[in-house]
Amino acid sequence: MSAPDLRRAAAARALELVEPGMRLGIGTGSTAAAFIALLGDRVRAGLDVIGVPTSEATRIACEREGIRLATLEELPELDLTIDGADEVDANLRLIKGGGAALLREKIVAMASRRMVVIADAAKRVETLGAFPLPIEVNVFGFGATWRAVEKALAESGCAGKPLTRRLDAAGEPLLTDGGHALLDAHLGAIPDPEGLSARLWAVPGVVEHGLFLGIADTAYLAEASGSEARVI
Ligand code: 5RP
Repeated sequence: MSAPDLRRAAAARALELVEPGMRLGIGTGSTAAAFIALLGDRVRAGLDVIGVPTSEATRIACEREGIRLATLEELPELDLTIDGADEVDANLRLIKGGGAALLREKIVAMASRRMVVIADAAKRVETLGAFPLPIEVNVFGFGATWRAVEKALAESGCAGKPLTRRLDAAGEPLLTDGGHALLDAHLGAIPDPEGLSARLWAVPGVVEHGLFLGIADTAYLAEASGSEARVI
């Protein structure tokens, strides 16, 4: 069972939740891309839904599939958001932002009545933090914000952990769809995600961070079961 098969199985399970007329938040990443492909098939077969994309990459993918799109200005309330995650714990707390779309992903998820996570079951963790925590920061005051983020991490019991600036494929500093920089905090473990979240939000240059706490309602995690994929 390949990783794409598992992503497709999780995406297919989430697609069962989609009903005609729904206003959907559409996530970013390879698992969300599997969902977009399956949703595109349903749309071409006559399903009428409208989606708000969480990134420019997702907007382009949805347009290619013929999925009708809107903005959150036009549709401030959504029925259901389907998105991937980098880590999921037993309390449905997430790390997201591996695809640099965390800000739009969080705005869209919070505008939705329900957020469903789709992922390979390998994303399930006991303690969040093995995946580097993305922190989106304003470019203005970048150095000062970097130092303030380091202080916030130290106060959260994560002193001395490396913080790096995310680069793009060409090795240049990455800018998000919103024109911000991204820091990745290599923490290993986050003993108190809520405490860390509050400390990061208290830093003025921090635009958003990748801890999604109390936002996801359900997670469909796909694992291999013999030659089949089982979604749990
Ligand atoms: C993008 C994200 C993605 O949902 C996350 O990185 C998971 O991606 P993938 O499905 O490719 O593993 O948060 O910002």
